[in-house]
Amino acid sequence: MRKPLTEVGRTTRAWGFRRYGGPDVLQEIPVPMPSAGPGQVLIEVAATSVNPADTYFRAGRFRLLIRLKLPFVPGLDVAGVVAATDSGSGRFSVGDPVFAALPGKTAGGYSRYVAVDESAVARAPSSLSLQEAAAVPLVALTALQGLRDVGGMGAGDRVLVFGAAGGVGTAAVQVAARLGAEVTAATTPDQLGFVRGLGAHEVVNRIRWRESLRGRRFDLVFDASGKLSARALRPLVRREGTAVTVNPGTGNPLIAALSRLLPGAAVRGFLVRPSGGDLVLLRGWIEDGSFRPVIQETLPIQEVARAHRVSEGGGVRGKLVLTIPSTPPATPRGA
Ligand SMILES: NC(=O)c1ccc[n+]([C@@H]2O[C@H](COP(=O)([O-])OP(=O)(O)OC[C@H]3O[C@@H](n4cnc5c(N)ncnc54)[C@H](OP(=O)(O)O)[C@@H]3O)[C@@H](O)[C@H]2O)c1
Repeated sequence: MRKPLTEVGRTTRAWGFRRYGGPDVLQEIPVPMPSAGPGQVLIEVAATSVNPADTYFRAGRFRLLIRLKLPFVPGLDVAGVVAATDSGSGRFSVGDPVFAALPGKTAGGYSRYVAVDESAVARAPSSLSLQEAAAVPLVALTALQGLRDVGGMGAGDRVLVFGAAGGVGTAAVQVAARLGAEVTAATTPDQLGFVRGLGAHEVVNRIRWRESLRGRRFDLVFDASGKLSARALRPLVRREGTAVTVNPGTGNPLIAALSRLLPGAAVRGFLVRPSGGDLVLLRGWIEDGSFRPVIQETLPIQEVARAHRVSEGGGVRGKLVLTIPSTPPATPRGA
């Protein structure tokens, strides 16, 4: 049995930035070895993934809204094995394969070790490698919570997923289909066949969406790109329906409240929340074959700058996964 790691006064490997800037500010930064606090598990991370938020944080896009403590280690997804627990719940044991989404403010997934609240953690799907599992948490939770909780989607609803080939979009097409919706997916022309293969009943050209979708009204529109304005979204939804956007600015409560005064559907933005319970649901879908992670490329974390460039360049099909090396092990601080 592996020895629980609860040492303090040591450092571990992590990749992050000491100042805001382009992808080249990313570098290896040793960080203090975390330990599992009350109600937490310490995860030895095998893989993480790139989310656009990582690049926004690195570029300082939110610096006026959110004060990051520099150096900052991005990373909102992790998959790995439990290295220590301090919850006493007995839900997890050292050596268990697990996956989790991390809270946006602290992030930290680009690390060899991270301490995570047990409520955010679930056993990893038995049918996936840890590298594949790292592609799941944030985008799949965003899709599930956006469609089910914010959009109130039900079986038989006519749902439009806009921006269907990206990380959130590939998850949203599959989640909506799994929950029994009739899914129309809007994506770039070269992704139409691929997106149909994810379970969309109909695929339309996202570049010419005004023509492709003219006169159409859906029960629920899920904008997985976050690029459509409230004004563009509302005519796509029937009067009693809902438009959900991953851009919390577009769907902020004030705009949502004002939009209710106007004829037409509500537009709602939201922020995903880490949830081990939702990951258990998604794990079941992965294991029964009704949901699969879509991974464009898996890179070693040493190539994180290139991965950010690829993500920022756009057109990524699904996810970019980053593997974290297991050696050398954590070293004594100052050694
Ligand atoms: N609110 C939340 O809690 C939350 C959680 C996760 C992500 N997000 C946000 O959701 C967005 C998508 O995340 P992601 O991981 O899916 O990113 P991604 O993998 O880069 O995918 C973005 C997709 O948006 C579409 N797109 C790109 N440029 C566009 C444009 N100019 N107009 C319309 N659509 C465009 C593309 O879809 P096609 O190739 O199909 O055309 C692209 O694949 C990001 O802004 C991210 O920060 C929000």
